[in-house]
Amino acid sequence: MEGILVSYPLILVNLKTYKEGIGEEAIKLAKIAEDVHYKTGVSIALAPQMVDVKLLIDSSEVPVFAQHIDPVIYGQYTGHILPEAVAESGCIGTLINHSERQLPIKVIENTILRSKEVQLISVVCVDTVEKAIQIAKLNPDAIAIEPPELIGSGISVSKAKPEIISGAVKAVKIINSKIRVLCGAGITSGDDVIAAQNLGAEGILVASGVVKAKDPYQALLDLARSLRH
Ligand code: G3P
Repeated sequence: MEGILVSYPLILVNLKTYKEGIGEEAIKLAKIAEDVHYKTGVSIALAPQMVDVKLLIDSSEVPVFAQHIDPVIYGQYTGHILPEAVAESGCIGTLINHSERQLPIKVIENTILRSKEVQLISVVCVDTVEKAIQIAKLNPDAIAIEPPELIGSGISVSKAKPEIISGAVKAVKIINSKIRVLCGAGITSGDDVIAAQNLGAEGILVASGVVKAKDPYQALLDLARSLRH
C-alpha cells in the first residue's frame, strides 16, 4: 500500500504492550490514524508490537515505527531485532531507549548508527535535558523528552514540566538544529499539544491518551487539530 510520509509536526503513537493496541485492535488504530491524517493533514505514525508491524504495513498507509531495535548484524543473534529486517518489513523508523526499554549509552550510539545504515528514522527517548544534550551529540534524527514519572499519568509534561521541553529544545538545537525534538508523557488533550508546541516541541510521543482513550478517534482528532503545521 502507498505510505503516508513522516513530516513535522509529528504525532507518534506508541502502542506499547497495551491490549487495546494488539493485532486487530492495532489495525483499528491504524485506520483511525489514517482518517485523522486525511482530515487534518497532520503526520501520524504508529509504533506497534513487532509482530504487528507487517500487519499494519499491509493493511494501512500509516508510517510504522519499531518500538526497539538491537544493533546486531546478520548472523547468530537469536531473539534480537535486526535493523535490516525491520527496514525490509517496511518500518520507517524506530524508537530507541524508551523509558520502558532503556539502554546503555554505547548501545544507544551503536543503535543510532545501525538505524542510519538501514535508513530508519531514529527517535531516541530521554528523561532529562542533560541526557538530551548527551544524545544530541550522537546525531539521531529526533529526540523525545519524556519524564518517566508522568508517563501514563494523564498529567501532561507540557503543563507539569514545561521547562524540561523548552530546555531540551534550546540545548539540542544549539548542538544540531536539524535534530527534531518531540515530547511525551501524560498528553491527553489538544491544550497539552498547544502548550508543547509553544515550548518548541516539533511533535508528540503519546500512548495511553490515544490507545486507552474511550474514543481513540476523538482523542487523536483533538490532538491533531490542535497542532499548527
Ligand atoms: O511512548 C510514549 C509514552 O511513554 C507516553 O505515554 O501514556 O503518557 O502518553 P503516555
